[in-house]
Amino acid sequence: MQNFDYQTPTRLIFGEGVVKKLPEVMERFGKKILLTYGGGSIKKIGLYDKVKELLSDFEIFELSDIQPNPKYDPSVLDGVRICKENDVDVILAVGGGSVLDCSKAIATGAKYDGDPWDLISYKAFAADSIPIVDIITLAATGSEYDSGGVISRTETNDKIGYIDPLNFPAVSFLDPTYTFTVSKKQTAAGCADAMNHIMEQYFCEDSTLLNDGFMEAGLKSLMINAKKCIENPRDYTARAEMMLCCTYGCNGIYSLGNSETGWPCHAIEHALSAYYDITHGEGLAIITPRWMRHILSERTLPRFVKYGVNVFGINPDQDGFDIADKAIDATYKFFESINIPMHLRDVGIDDSRIGEMAHHIAVNEGLEYAYVPLLEDDIVKILTESL
Ligand code: NZQ
Ligand code: ZN
Repeated sequence: MQNFDYQTPTRLIFGEGVVKKLPEVMERFGKKILLTYGGGSIKKIGLYDKVKELLSDFEIFELSDIQPNPKYDPSVLDGVRICKENDVDVILAVGGGSVLDCSKAIATGAKYDGDPWDLISYKAFAADSIPIVDIITLAATGSEYDSGGVISRTETNDKIGYIDPLNFPAVSFLDPTYTFTVSKKQTAAGCADAMNHIMEQYFCEDSTLLNDGFMEAGLKSLMINAKKCIENPRDYTARAEMMLCCTYGCNGIYSLGNSETGWPCHAIEHALSAYYDITHGEGLAIITPRWMRHILSERTLPRFVKYGVNVFGINPDQDGFDIADKAIDATYKFFESINIPMHLRDVGIDDSRIGEMAHHIAVNEGLEYAYVPLLEDDIVKILTESL
């Protein structure tokens, strides 16, 4: 077991109706709020009106139209400008992971004198930030419980995971009923995203019985509950359990004491969504089984056997490589069963930029240090297999 240094300062307020506590929570941070949201889903579900009603005593500035794969320009830059011009006290992010991630970059950018990209690209480090409160409306990223935000810069095809302890939300409201309206497509993508967050931690050199059990249960729960959510979008219990599985995803709690892995599927997928603006969870579902086949070897076999036996119930009394093979097939078939397109061509990606993307990933993502090191040629192979 490896040493670790862990702290999550985020308060989680979970359950139906908890948003009524919003005024007392916001009061602690000040009166001037930047309300951030996306393309309108929060208006359709009545949450925008509810928030405005609950916060009628506050001064509210707004940043809307934050897109999936949130963009540095205009969203982060506009948000920073609004915060600086109005001396905003606190950001209230209402929406999916994209809204929250964008708000994280705004929060540190607003307290920084230079170009906020300096912080996102780690040329400089933030000394301060505006506190963030969020109401998460899509179970997927775990951004509500982690210190990361992923920001895209279109002109350079960059999509950077910007991690800083200052990015932890101060408070996250998690009301599963706000996820009832999430489409089947986004529910499936959210499930694939959260499952891959677990797999990125599970496939490692050094784990513990405790962590393996926690992660295997997380994977099983996600598969069972995502199917229930897709069949009956208003199944509160399924939405609630899926939400919590997702919340744990990226904050390290699933794998405290495990060895590092380099999160290779995320490194590869971020390039796909930077170049082609695809849905993150779909890109991950496509990459994951191909990456698994690529890294399967005598060395990694025991992890695949454990995964196959404990997550998919595969009979352990057979050859290890047969178990691994069946486990990888089962992973693919599960994603297919929730109607995720399983080829890059299905999401509009052909082979024309594979070399360019692989080079970008190899230069920028440090995958030579991953659990199974990936060099440019390996990445080309994984992407080509995914076509
Ligand atoms: O824009 P609106 O109108 O709000 O619609 C959104 C959007 O079209 C919609 N939506 C959200 N809540 C809804 C809803 N529709 C109906 N009912 C609701 N309750 O869903 C669409 C997708 O939203 P988005 O926020 O983009 O999805 P998600 O939460 O999956 O976030 C994806 C982004 O997070 C990054 C991804 O790379 C991607 O940019 N990630 C962030 C991570 C983190 N901070 O830790 C980790 C992840 O690995 C991931 O990389
Ligand atoms: Zn992810």
